[in-house]
Amino acid sequence: EGAVTVGELAKLIKREPSEIIKKLLFLGIMATINQEIDTDAIELVASDFGVEVVVKEPVDEEALDMLIEEADPAKLQERPPIVTIMGHVDHGKTTLLDAIRETNVTAQEAGGITQHIGAYQVEVSGKKITFLDTPGHEAFTTMRARGAQVTDITVLVVAADDGVMPQTVEAINHAKAANVPIIVAVNKMDKPDANPDRVRQELSEYGLISEEWGGDTIFVPLSAKQRTGLDQLLEMILLVAEMAELKADPTARPRGTVIEAELDKGRGPVATVLVQNGTMRVGDIVVAGTTFGRVRAMVNDKGRRVKEAGPSYPVEILGLNDVPSAGDLFVVYDDERKARSLAEKRIAKHRQEQLGVQSRVTLEDLYKQI
Ligand code: GTP
Ligand code: MG
Repeated sequence: EGAVTVGELAKLIKREPSEIIKKLLFLGIMATINQEIDTDAIELVASDFGVEVVVKEPVDEEALDMLIEEADPAKLQERPPIVTIMGHVDHGKTTLLDAIRETNVTAQEAGGITQHIGAYQVEVSGKKITFLDTPGHEAFTTMRARGAQVTDITVLVVAADDGVMPQTVEAINHAKAANVPIIVAVNKMDKPDANPDRVRQELSEYGLISEEWGGDTIFVPLSAKQRTGLDQLLEMILLVAEMAELKADPTARPRGTVIEAELDKGRGPVATVLVQNGTMRVGDIVVAGTTFGRVRAMVNDKGRRVKEAGPSYPVEILGLNDVPSAGDLFVVYDDERKARSLAEKRIAKHRQEQLGVQSRVTLEDLYKQI
């Protein structure tokens, strides 16, 4: 929380400010009592006085958000949109995700084994789109609960033969709360009882008014099963992405979100992450939630090993000391010691919170017994 001044440091290590100023002079730093001094200087001065000062890293979720806001506008580059698919049970989300993936595998990738890593990227007319392969609801609820926002665009799947259902409405609410634009995919158009106008009419009651009806919501009729209308959907995604002017700085400090993670018998903890800013490389030291480690290898959605991953690129990373949680933020550190110490602090905090919960439960149990 803010920088430390000479005067504050003096109080902290119980010395006269003049002594601190003298030491700083030795280090080539001219300082007055109200001057702020940096971490390195604090540690050096303190250790000269035989005091060990541990400077707390100000890096937490809020600080990470600041890192983005302070981005250099000149370095920002267009990045692929990150898209989630949401909709009511059985309206065809999985079929649509599979259809998009399979119909957009390029020739040279066709031989590769497609991995399910929780996210994948397709290329459409030279532009990339990242799809989160996790159920949209989960992506929104677990991740947003952790303060992570990974979605740029939501594709709302509504079966043309079934219309708006409870989870359709839920999905609309999630997307609206997160301020994410919605594209409506009117699915199952191949069915004889498909009624897209009914879908339009029902959705208009939730403020999603189709362009044909004078509104600004894009509706794309399609059949995930017969794979018709997919190109139009992808084109519309690119159009919405262009309007949203999605940008990131590939040269910034790498950070992003854990999409999913598991313990693999052979490979150890494996986390699928989505890089949201900067470019992550093999060998980088990362902290992800309460876990940390050096990235030993990265594998993309085509099952290929990659050396780097830029903005909106989903990869599996190997090398973490433990399994992080979906929605955890990750950030790259230049110093393994700092990474470890941050992860350990978070573990301690986590334990404390859990202890808090447990003692509350115990208290309630006590009341019950009485
Ligand atoms: P949950 O994951 O259970 O919420 O379902 P989902 O939304 O992922 O639906 P899923 O893709 O599993 O599809 C449900 C059923 O609808 C399956 O039997 C699909 O084959 C079928 N289906 C999906 N898309 C279409 C379509 O375009 N036309 C037809 N006729 N059937 C479809
Ligand atoms: Mg499904």
